[in-house]
Amino acid sequence: MIYLVAGARPNFMKIAPIARSMRKRGMPHKIVHTGQHYDEEMSGTFFQDLGLPVPDAHLGVGSGTHAQQTGKVMTAFEKVCFRERPCLVIVVGDVNSTVACALVAAKLRIPVAHVEAGLRSFDRSMPEEINRVLTDRISDYLFTTCEDANANLCREGIPAERIHFVGNVMIDTLIEHQKMAAHSGIRERLGLEKNGFPVRYAVSTLHRPSNVDERESLRNILESLNAIHEKMPVVFPAHPRTIKQLKKFGMMDQVCFLEDLAGMDPRASHERVLTIPPLGYLDFLSLMSGASLVLTDSGGIQEETTILGIPCLTLRPNTERPITIREGTNKLVGNEPGIIVSEALGWAARKKTGKKLPKFWDGKAADRIVRVINRSGLQINA
Ligand code: UD1
Repeated sequence: MIYLVAGARPNFMKIAPIARSMRKRGMPHKIVHTGQHYDEEMSGTFFQDLGLPVPDAHLGVGSGTHAQQTGKVMTAFEKVCFRERPCLVIVVGDVNSTVACALVAAKLRIPVAHVEAGLRSFDRSMPEEINRVLTDRISDYLFTTCEDANANLCREGIPAERIHFVGNVMIDTLIEHQKMAAHSGIRERLGLEKNGFPVRYAVSTLHRPSNVDERESLRNILESLNAIHEKMPVVFPAHPRTIKQLKKFGMMDQVCFLEDLAGMDPRASHERVLTIPPLGYLDFLSLMSGASLVLTDSGGIQEETTILGIPCLTLRPNTERPITIREGTNKLVGNEPGIIVSEALGWAARKKTGKKLPKFWDGKAADRIVRVINRSGLQINA
């Protein structure tokens, strides 16, 4: 039995194509949800949108400090592995659940596969960087999305035979769901299509501790988004962490917060950034696809905008995904208001850059992963 582990929002779209490819080939696998993200809008809706089956095990760990969350995932996942020893544990991305489950498996001498291995921001103040470095170190199969990642792993002394350049599973999911997303209706509901004609708008997402946990940074970014909003509407599907911080810092009056989209009047105009709850996969893909500009601190969105040809400004000083700058539509702008606003207005005026396709970002990454596992000689019993 192979275990596919997912814990937080960005994991679900990465395991979905792997699970589908395994299903197609009759490869025995189970989905383990750690419960790091638990709200319906951060988790449940993704299973529906992506056609993922109900997880075979749900660890229900919830929130906590890094140590608490990592520890709770480890304790719960170890019990699952004791009950039924899997022949392989596949972890994806860089969240706390990723490193926690990899560590449990490695100590039980169960082979570990890391999907999206080798990405490096070289910024150890990011919890995700710690998770990436540690997970790669103890993984047996390192599945990479780009040549940079291969080079990073080689530099860190990972033997070449463990590294498999397979492409980007997140893009598999995007390609698979583009047509479905076109019917989401979210743009009409938000008033971003008037009389059937698209309105120019920007989309923003924020959740990194460095941006939302510091009062000054969050204020700077909101100020920038509001300045951009004066020129074109900015829609801001806000992460629960970000809403929490906005409330804590008394900044809710800096945004127009619509808690319930069902009650929204699409004809209404909003004086400040239109802030809405997190969207499901298909709605967000539709919203992003129609945008003139995206401003984000997310890793995955830098990749998705590259494929969609949408200009992306990354509100961070660095990225673990430099290929999105070199071959894509991404630009790093940090969180200084002056820079963000002038770059945003310049970039939004640019024409869509057309589709870019970094090597193997072609919708077939999951099949490549499953092929590698198939040929590896692992004994996979049901
Ligand atoms: C986590 C990942 C990050 C990823 C992000 C995507 C780590 C270290 N970070 O960050 O890499 O990009 O997910 O969303 O693993 N919360 C809710 N409801 C939920 C989930 C979280 O209210 O369903 C709240 C929690 O109470 C907590 C905050 O959001 O206060 C942060 O959640 P957490 O999972 O710790 O980290 P993220 O910021 O989501």
